Amino acid sequence: MSIIYGLPPLKDSDDPRILLVNRFVERALAAAAPGAFLVEYFTWMEHLPRWMSPWRRYAEDCFSRDSIMFEKLFSDTKHKIEAGDATDSVAAKLIEDQRTRNLTDKDSAWISATVYSAGAETSSGQLAWFILAMVLHPEAQERAQDEIDSVVGRDRLPTFQDYEQLPYVRALVKEVMRWRGVSPLGIPHRLCQDDWYNGHFLPKDTTCIVNSWQLNHDPDVYGPDADDFRPGRHLDESGKLMPPTPETKDESHVSYGFGRRWAVFSLSLR
Ligand code: HEM
Repeated sequence: MSIIYGLPPLKDSDDPRILLVNRFVERALAAAAPGAFLVEYFTWMEHLPRWMSPWRRYAEDCFSRDSIMFEKLFSDTKHKIEAGDATDSVAAKLIEDQRTRNLTDKDSAWISATVYSAGAETSSGQLAWFILAMVLHPEAQERAQDEIDSVVGRDRLPTFQDYEQLPYVRALVKEVMRWRGVSPLGIPHRLCQDDWYNGHFLPKDTTCIVNSWQLNHDPDVYGPDADDFRPGRHLDESGKLMPPTPETKDESHVSYGFGRRWAVFSLSLR
């Protein structure tokens, strides 16, 4: 909430603002799961009138209610800016750029909401898998802690200046994300043009679901112990990071999916 709306850190996980937004994230994730609604299989159902389409009424009702909530969060930031009382945030940046980017308040409110939703559950879920991996593999935790102690010490937090000197920590992060990515079936994509894949014709508008779990656990790529948690698989004998696994945009896993923004992220890291 601080990053997106510039709010002071919320002290209570039962804060109504957190509960409301998290309920939206839960509903959005349930709706996004492949096969959540019959109409995805029987696509002729999309031509039924509204009164015969409970899924459409549900989506439209949620959209109206959620729009009110996100427009309120967004307009609160706007009022703070007008009062000269705003901190840096995604919403503040959008307000600054709104005119040049030709965005309405509703657009900007939903962009802020999307960034919150995309970043919240993914980050907390992935961190929960990280904690489990550390509980199951204390030897990996100890080695990572030793590396941080020798490179960073205990008086400050790591920064990107330390990045190159932390190969084991980076291998460990890669391995958590490969071993237990939070989105095993990625996000469904729709083809914007006809395509061919391995001799199969895929017409425009086909929904494609990527089996990220299988790609991350392929023994032909990661070896016969692909199911095990082993950060060392990303390191060579001298402890340096191995060249990245091909076709993973330098990550050695596919848990971030296949969107365009990857190029932007990796550029900003360099
Ligand atoms: C461990 C953390 C994260 C994981 C595993 C993750 C994973 C993903 C995946 C699998 C997709 C779908 C990509 C595709 O189209 O194939 C995605 C999209 C997206 N993620 Fe993340 N994400 C994470 C963190 C974040 C954070 C922190 C933010 C924002 C602050 C964010 C913002 C987005 C946005 C805006 C999209 C949609 C982009 C688009 O449609 O082009 N994600 N993410």
